[in-house]
Amino acid sequence: MTFLFNSDARRGAVFAEAFAKELPGLPFAMNAATVDADAVRYLITWTVPDNLARYRNLELLFSLGAGVDQFRFDAVPATVKIVRMVEEGIVRMMQEYVSLAVLALHRNLPAYLAQQRAGQWLDVPQIQAASRRIGVLGLGQLGQAVLDRLKPFDFPLAGWSRSPRQIDGVTCHHGEVGLETMLAASDILVCLLPLTEDTRGFLNADLFAKLPEGAALVHTGRGPQLDHKALVAALASGHLSAAMIDVTDPEPLPANHPFWSHPKIILTPHVASVTQPETAARAVIDNIRRHRAGVEPIGLVDRSRGY
Ligand code: NDP
Ligand code: OXD
Repeated sequence: MTFLFNSDARRGAVFAEAFAKELPGLPFAMNAATVDADAVRYLITWTVPDNLARYRNLELLFSLGAGVDQFRFDAVPATVKIVRMVEEGIVRMMQEYVSLAVLALHRNLPAYLAQQRAGQWLDVPQIQAASRRIGVLGLGQLGQAVLDRLKPFDFPLAGWSRSPRQIDGVTCHHGEVGLETMLAASDILVCLLPLTEDTRGFLNADLFAKLPEGAALVHTGRGPQLDHKALVAALASGHLSAAMIDVTDPEPLPANHPFWSHPKIILTPHVASVTQPETAARAVIDNIRRHRAGVEPIGLVDRSRGY
């Protein structure tokens, strides 16, 4: 039985140390070329390797990230469980990023940055947090965590998911009707949806039109969910006031893309949240223990839903 780590050596070294301590009986390999393929029971990777079929005895396929849209599910035998990354480092960083973005948009930071570049000293009218309604698309581990972190600021909080949810201090919506209701009451909309066939192109002109005049967008889901042209048009018309964008399609953007220099867009290079090897190794070890005890791993992907 072997655990195969298929990623960068720096994070691999952290995993190797944790495995040696916590699961000393489980050989840990970082070199796919020299590993005995038949011995590999567990594999962690960002994308599914082309030669996955050689690991005939694979039981768990771990994604290095919280998202699994980069996995080709049809290349993974049905007997193999796909497990996405659920670890406290990713959660903490996403809480930081979305708090930063929501506060930046609430306090008109894009406008002040543009004014600074233009040498202007002017105040922009400021509403109070209790009047700035936040809507979060996706109420999974990350959506719930960012809402929790936003609670002390006094923003009215809402969220939307596929199935009904109940979260203290958050108005929860679901389904088509729930989406319309939440959009109409979201001054800052945060996207934390996984990329699936249902969510591809989700942030489009129709959706923007359902937001209140002057609303702002935080996008930390996946690039292909956002229609770039529709965002630029909504910002040009003034219907949307600003956006903070962490994920794009493609990544990186081409040099002449309008987002680079758009005065109403703050752009970051897919860094909202990054898997932290110390906490990720603990989460993976815990999931191997659960699996060996016949308990479902945390973060088990439902292939039919795509997340
Ligand atoms: P989860 O799987 O825990 O949660 C997904 C949420 O989205 C669930 O609430 C789910 O609803 C909801 N959802 C999915 N599809 C739909 C749909 N069609 N309609 C309505 N709701 C839907 O995911 P995480 O919270 O862990 O992560 C979310 C995403 O964040 C990742 O998939 C990834 O794309 C992105 N991400 C981005 C990072 C970055 O650095 N920018 C870093 C990490 C993640 P339900 O509760 O009903 O199942
Ligand atoms: C992830 C990411 O999915 O970093 O974890 O985007």
